[in-house]
Amino acid sequence: MAKTVYLKDYQASNFLIEKVDLDFNLNDDFTIVETKLKLFKNSSLDNASDDLFLNGTELELLEISIDGVTLEESLYSVNEHGLQLLNLPESCELYTKVKIHPEKNTQLEGLYMSKGIYTTQCEAQGFRRITYYLDRPDVMSKFTTSITAVKEKFPVMLSNGNLIKEQDLEDGRHLAVWDDPSLKPAYLFALVAGQLEYIEDKYKTTSGRDVELRVYAEKHNINKCSYAMESLIASIKWDEDTHGLEYDLDIYMIVAISDFNSGAMENKGLNIFNAKYALADPSTATDTDYKNVERVIGHEYFHNWTGNRITCREWFQLSLKEGLTVFREQNFAQDLNSKVVNRIDDVNIMTTAQFTEDAGPLAHPVRPESYQEIRNFYTATIYDKGSEVIRMIATLVGESGYYKGMKLYVERHDGAAVTVEDFVAAMADANNIDLTQFKLWYSQAGTPSLKVSSEYNEEAKEYTLHFEQSCRATPETSEKRPFVIPVKMSLISTSGGALDLDISGENIKDTDLGKSKVLVVNQQKQSFTFKNVNVKPIPSLLQGFSAPVNLAYAYTEEELLLLISHDIDGFNRYNAMQKLFILTIKQLLALHLQGEELHLPKSLSEAFNSVLVNCKDDLAVAARMLSIPSISYILGVITEDVDLDALLQVRKFLNKELAVCHEEQLESIYKYVNVAGNYELTKDAIAMRSLKAVVLDYLLVTEDERHLNTVDSLYAKADNMTDYVMALSSVRNIS
Ligand code: BES
Ligand code: ZN
Repeated sequence: MAKTVYLKDYQASNFLIEKVDLDFNLNDDFTIVETKLKLFKNSSLDNASDDLFLNGTELELLEISIDGVTLEESLYSVNEHGLQLLNLPESCELYTKVKIHPEKNTQLEGLYMSKGIYTTQCEAQGFRRITYYLDRPDVMSKFTTSITAVKEKFPVMLSNGNLIKEQDLEDGRHLAVWDDPSLKPAYLFALVAGQLEYIEDKYKTTSGRDVELRVYAEKHNINKCSYAMESLIASIKWDEDTHGLEYDLDIYMIVAISDFNSGAMENKGLNIFNAKYALADPSTATDTDYKNVERVIGHEYFHNWTGNRITCREWFQLSLKEGLTVFREQNFAQDLNSKVVNRIDDVNIMTTAQFTEDAGPLAHPVRPESYQEIRNFYTATIYDKGSEVIRMIATLVGESGYYKGMKLYVERHDGAAVTVEDFVAAMADANNIDLTQFKLWYSQAGTPSLKVSSEYNEEAKEYTLHFEQSCRATPETSEKRPFVIPVKMSLISTSGGALDLDISGENIKDTDLGKSKVLVVNQQKQSFTFKNVNVKPIPSLLQGFSAPVNLAYAYTEEELLLLISHDIDGFNRYNAMQKLFILTIKQLLALHLQGEELHLPKSLSEAFNSVLVNCKDDLAVAARMLSIPSISYILGVITEDVDLDALLQVRKFLNKELAVCHEEQLESIYKYVNVAGNYELTKDAIAMRSLKAVVLDYLLVTEDERHLNTVDSLYAKADNMTDYVMALSSVRNIS
């Protein structure tokens, strides 16, 4: 069993590496790796030891020398974890020659061969399977990589940085030399060799530098790469436009590989992708597949600043790069597509995957204190909650405050390996605020519950919101201190429209928020009173899901109905509809268990109708709002014991009643969204197809045979995977 590693034990390395020269000799049965490391003692440490341990796993050491002299056996030893060197001088050049077996490597870590292509995956600790090295992210160095192999089998040989030399050798072999001028940790190293083709494009950065862009794939996939290229260009542009961050090398390469353990990897200048997230064409990819490609391409590109140039000091800081990069990727996707729909989908991942993780035995903080196996820490908490934590900071300091914070973060830490503390300090310093208590989000696990109640004082014309937060015990701590919970909110009047909020104070933020404000809940119990409220309003709470908490407020059906049509926050209109669905399902379940006949409640029918009537405001949001929550979602939010069979029946009943009662309108909407024309991936075209899918599903549950013709015709005319899947899956609704 692996031994536990603790954050508190962190120590900087006693030696650092100024330069790395790697030489790969790729052969059928083995690979030889020759490595030269310019080592020097870390002068910032007092009494640094002269001995040095280099990580190395499953390497066969063939030669070792220091400054050109073969090393005496008494000065080193090798074990299964690496190479121990004794009595090193202040600085020296270490040369090692090792033999490895990529052709037998089935771990998909380090250098491996799959379907005739050599690939690497070094994050988190794969580089030690390639050569002896200080395989830790806080050791950053400049790499030059030479590769030789048989030209016919491996015509393309890639590594990080710029190609500085190509040469044909004897025996049909050839050489390529890549030089990466940037400082990088070993986990960002990459090498690819094989029979690959590429498509290319060019990008001129804002400051006028030309960057060559390439997407590599196997020949039979090369016609599926154009969307990846478009997404890459959109990503580079977005990072320049929003953050003022430019790309730094002369070439950016993406390689699509069929055997790849994760989704994609952000190796410096040479991203490696699982083919699923790089290749797309209308005959095989749905709208969702396309949008996933766009996001993953964006994610790996954004790592160039948040992850590569500024990296993690150690792996406890994983969320420093992953949480922040997910946050950037989410904002990119929101800017390119629909803000509200993207938020709805991202929040669904949080409230299902992450909340479930946080509620179970594997709950852990965004910045864990210990781990046994870092591979198991690429979790929804590190990624998605990590992103939500940054979103909360952005909510507290405002959008411009977030960009100021990012600017300072980059200025302070470019080229360094840093911590979550450093990131938060940049955000706090740039905005002159204290985020000390806020940092509990990084150290305490568990999803806080936030109970809210309201009180209206008609005489005083005052409206008060009472908050009470709690959080269950989780493995790292049972004594939870109160979290800082930014609750973005507004008050909706019963006649529609949002009130002007008369409240101020230290815990109220209101810059650039229109008729909303952010209440900063930071005590276990806390109340906020609004003045000059003439009629009792309805609170719209946690707008845009402003904090990853379980918020409970006892809305009545009438209140939800009003929010569904009048909330000024799109996400909360959707959320109100979900709540009304759940309330209705609970009522129907109770009736069903009592053996009573079921009826479609008027409130839900009205709400459904109002969404249909207003669907043209935002077709994609309407599609989400009209969808009955899935069984797994329902089971997640209903805390009482549920009879699954009864639930299935109730949901089916609801589905059919809604369809039958609104059939005419559904039909007319279907006609509106089922437009002829070429397959396009614009926001509007995608929105239309998403509503079409939902409406078609409803039409088919009516069991009216006319709609079978609709499906037939959709299928017959389909020129893209989204329409095909839509037609096929709608038929499953026929009983
Ligand atoms: N750095 C990761 C890739 C990675 C994952 C390396 C696990 C080692 C272990 C990369 O940036 C990443 O997060 N990829 C995601 C996709 C992304 C869009 C969230 C993945 O691979 O799932
Ligand atoms: Zn990532």
